[in-house]
Amino acid sequence: MADVQRPRVFVARVIPDEGLAAVSAVCEMDLWDGELPPPRSELLRRVAGCDGVMTLLTDRVDDEFLDAAGPQLKVVSNYAVGFDNIDLEACARRGIPVGNTPGVLTETTADLAWALLMAAARRLPEGDRYVRDGRWKTWGPLLLLGPDVHGATIGIVGFGRIGQAMARRAQGFGMEILYHDVNRLPEAVSSPLGATYVPLEDLLGRSDFVTLHVNLTPETRHLISDSTLALMKPTAVLVNTSRGPVVDQPALARALREGTIWAAGLDVTDPEPIPLEDPLMGLDNCLIVPHIASASRATRGRMAAMAAANLVAGVFGEPLPTRVPVPA
Ligand code: GLV
Ligand code: GLV
Repeated sequence: MADVQRPRVFVARVIPDEGLAAVSAVCEMDLWDGELPPPRSELLRRVAGCDGVMTLLTDRVDDEFLDAAGPQLKVVSNYAVGFDNIDLEACARRGIPVGNTPGVLTETTADLAWALLMAAARRLPEGDRYVRDGRWKTWGPLLLLGPDVHGATIGIVGFGRIGQAMARRAQGFGMEILYHDVNRLPEAVSSPLGATYVPLEDLLGRSDFVTLHVNLTPETRHLISDSTLALMKPTAVLVNTSRGPVVDQPALARALREGTIWAAGLDVTDPEPIPLEDPLMGLDNCLIVPHIASASRATRGRMAAMAAANLVAGVFGEPLPTRVPVPA
């Protein structure tokens, strides 16, 4: 195929080869190869005239972006399952389909959420620091005690694919499983997972572990706040692998400092990266990792292939294999 006929696309970061190879095979690919996201002005400049763009959750896609790209733009493929970085209405008004990467990262994300839950409960980062600081003198009957995970009650907020994957893990630990979701599942679906629907207030009051698996929307922003933290047990552990702004972060810092809840394990913060001077950074009972829930080699490869398939389908005017539903 002559180069002039190949669709032009901009890919906003280096992703695994499974994706880049599939895109460059059929498109003129402009690849941003920096470790950091393209600065806004550079992003707007580089998308101009493109038929398709592959964005990450660090790239904001809004009217300004779509104007900069131009009317020939046919697809926005997001390399993520989440899409809160994208103004879906703005894309819909212009008839531009948006793709994401659901399904392939479900189990990998639940694995990391589970690791955070276990590590926060059993104080693994604190224990590791204790050893490396040379403070380990003997076997201590009262050293680094924490709650049991097995047999405890877990509250899963957001019972989509990832939330349900957490329920399967919790079954293996003999836990009581509560969930809350805007869509209550039929008993026939929730019973095999061993999960009981309860109102959010009940879930927060009864759970030893609360784990968040909602999309970020205006309704879920600051779902965890001073008032909802106050409903939780003083022994509770909060796990967040969803989006940072689902938690009111200053409120969480207060709750952890004052003992309103016991510990937290976070894969996401608000903002990202979390500033070194953030109050959470000084708290031993807060474990933070840098938004790595989907970061297994296999899953990032599958996400790349899926995001590439969406991009290529879009530039050739075909239906996207995994398209984000157009807002009602
Ligand atoms: C990561 O957070 C994603 O949405 O894929
Ligand atoms: C995404 O995979 C979800 O479960 O919401």
